[in-house]
Amino acid sequence: MESITGRLLTRCFGRPSGPLGRIGGRLMARGNAAAERHAVALAAPAEQDVVLVIGPGPGVGLGAAAQRSAHVVGVDPSDVMLAMARRRCAPLIRRGRLRLSPGTAARTGQPDASVDVVISVNNLQLWPDVPAALAELHRVLRPGGRLLLSTHHKWLPAGLPALAALVGAAGFDSVRTWTWDPPTRMAPTAAQLSAVRAGRPPRGATE
Ligand SMILES: C[S@@+](CC[C@H](N)C(=O)[O-])C[C@H]1O[C@@H](n2cnc3c(N)ncnc32)[C@H](O)[C@@H]1O
Repeated sequence: MESITGRLLTRCFGRPSGPLGRIGGRLMARGNAAAERHAVALAAPAEQDVVLVIGPGPGVGLGAAAQRSAHVVGVDPSDVMLAMARRRCAPLIRRGRLRLSPGTAARTGQPDASVDVVISVNNLQLWPDVPAALAELHRVLRPGGRLLLSTHHKWLPAGLPALAALVGAAGFDSVRTWTWDPPTRMAPTAAQLSAVRAGRPPRGATE
């Protein structure tokens, strides 16, 4: 059974809900902003790319992704986070550059081979079935599309090599892992992974 502390942390950060979720969202928008922006810079979407952001929380990374791509989709299971992200990114939504919808890593609701880049920051430790989620992200990525995962290193009990093995088993190529120390004071070391969906990019696509 989950402890009281565990339940509070889930309401604040894991699956934010109610007033605690709104407090958690404000803390994450500040404390995780550098990691969100860094992940977008690493994934480096091109201006014609469609980017799928998994678990964007309060939405800092959505804005960063929209600055460098054609269209961004964000999926998150928390109504409170979707509402915060909608408020933060209202101009992008109005201009049709961003769409937000309820969803999870394992159920994004996106069509097959419809996105060029998938970014997930600080939520893969919450995926109840990591292989199922990776299979879903592989399904929605176009051949040659890129996956960028980042989370606190301490939240990967089996470490980056185990995560890399799961990503490879899901059919991704060019799997790379490393750690990164955010510039934010007291922010923990991040474990990061990049990979490419196997297969050739569609004809006429630029790499
Ligand atoms: C710790 S917060 C991180 C939010 C933001 N990416 C950041 O770094 O500030 C985790 C986010 O993942 C979402 N989440 C929880 N379970 C998820 C799942 N299975 N798939 C995708 N997102 C999930 C939560 O609702 C929440 O918005």
